[in-house]
Amino acid sequence: MGSKPVPGPQGHPLFGNIQAMAANPAEFLLRTTNDFPDIAHFRLLHIHYYLVSKPEYIQDVLVGQHDKFRKSRRDIAILSKFLGKGILVTDGAYHKRQRKMVQPAFHTSRIQAYASTMVDYTNRLLDAWEDGSVQPINEAMQQVTMEIVAKSLFDADVAGQAAVVGHAVESLQQIAGMDFRVQNVIPDWLPLDRNRQRRAASDTLDRVIREVINERRKTNEDKGDLLSMLLSSEDEQGVRMTDQEVRDEAVTLFAAGHETTSNALTWTWYLLSQNPDVAARLHEEVDMALGDRNATLADLPNLKYTAMIIKESLRLYPPAWVLNARDAAADVLIDGYVIPEGSSVFVSPYAVQRSPHYFDDPLMFNPERFSPENEKLIPRYAYFPFGGGPRVCIGNSFAMMEAQLILATIAQRFSLSLMPDQAVEIDPLVTMGPKHGLRMRVKVRQTIVAHQP
Ligand code: HEM
Repeated sequence: MGSKPVPGPQGHPLFGNIQAMAANPAEFLLRTTNDFPDIAHFRLLHIHYYLVSKPEYIQDVLVGQHDKFRKSRRDIAILSKFLGKGILVTDGAYHKRQRKMVQPAFHTSRIQAYASTMVDYTNRLLDAWEDGSVQPINEAMQQVTMEIVAKSLFDADVAGQAAVVGHAVESLQQIAGMDFRVQNVIPDWLPLDRNRQRRAASDTLDRVIREVINERRKTNEDKGDLLSMLLSSEDEQGVRMTDQEVRDEAVTLFAAGHETTSNALTWTWYLLSQNPDVAARLHEEVDMALGDRNATLADLPNLKYTAMIIKESLRLYPPAWVLNARDAAADVLIDGYVIPEGSSVFVSPYAVQRSPHYFDDPLMFNPERFSPENEKLIPRYAYFPFGGGPRVCIGNSFAMMEAQLILATIAQRFSLSLMPDQAVEIDPLVTMGPKHGLRMRVKVRQTIVAHQP
């Protein structure tokens, strides 16, 4: 029996759909999912892509048949320039071993210890906000999530150096973003500004992280941070990671661990500004749960509506709007469709989570979708902002706890409103943020008598 033909959007005979993809890749994928809700085929120049959107098929790609796919060579070529062989960019047995070595750093008991760091850094940010001032919320969220990941990864060691590390990672991420926009991978040896900047940032990053690792190896002290876990972790043979492996995993966690969360929070503030009734309920919950004292880990169960808001925001604006493309390592059969060896597969949380095929009134911001009763009704893999299967986001719980604590702490002290002249548009790069930033006016909340540090 022959395979079923895969439908798809019309494209240019030579270039395929590259023009639409280049203009706005997230919108192109959304349109394609809307027109072809199960699976679609299209071409970007000579490369064949399959956009898989039906939740059961996504599960097949990420879980059931995940071993038949490799992360796309192109994505890996770009990202490994600064992530080395970190878990985000490796496959197969090596990925499995490294993932097992990194996992203990994310055990619940371990990440819970970071709750106070999250609240303290947020309060420090808010102490600098003047009543009635206009704040660039995207930059503020970026700063606070970066400080939190630096502290959680390296404890105090890089307190002074956190900004240096952060700056280096940010410029490497920006350069990777530029690399993604061109179809061919730029060779390192070309005398381009981009290559020079990449080398300078890599050298800085390597120097600082090496110094920290050397210091730690000497004392062997568990500082309670993620780095201590990476250094002491052992594989099944009792072998620890080399310095290079620890460096690569640390940079990976640093890079993967802040831009995503900061974009999630930025979009949440935007959505709240457009939905004042939801914002009012958030303030109510936070006032009830916290009064004027600092949030702690123990408050999380009483901040359920806060969590529902974040989940709904991750539905409409998933920072990882498309997962890294996967290359089929063999012909893969999904429900009678063949994805031929060598072709690439996209799965896009943005496209599926906004599709009317999978959500009623999909563009409406409605945190009630994630009430305990309703959440159960969402089909598996119709909602997957953290991916799934053996490569599911390792920082998932860390990120949810962080977003909940930061959102609650800000809402406790301030109300935010969007500046009327603020244009809002998505910018789907490596992660998806707002293209024109997000300036908001911040007002101290009068219901809070005084903030007790
Ligand atoms: C709201 C915040 C976050 C979102 C939306 C997010 C999303 C994702 C997604 C979708 C993937 C899967 C990528 C794929 O399969 O191609 C992923 C992987 C990953 N994430 Fe996150 N992430 C977030 C926060 C974090 C944090 C806080 C950390 C670490 C501190 C982190 C570390 C990682 C790592 C290391 C991977 C690679 C896992 C692997 O391939 O084995 N992420 N993330």
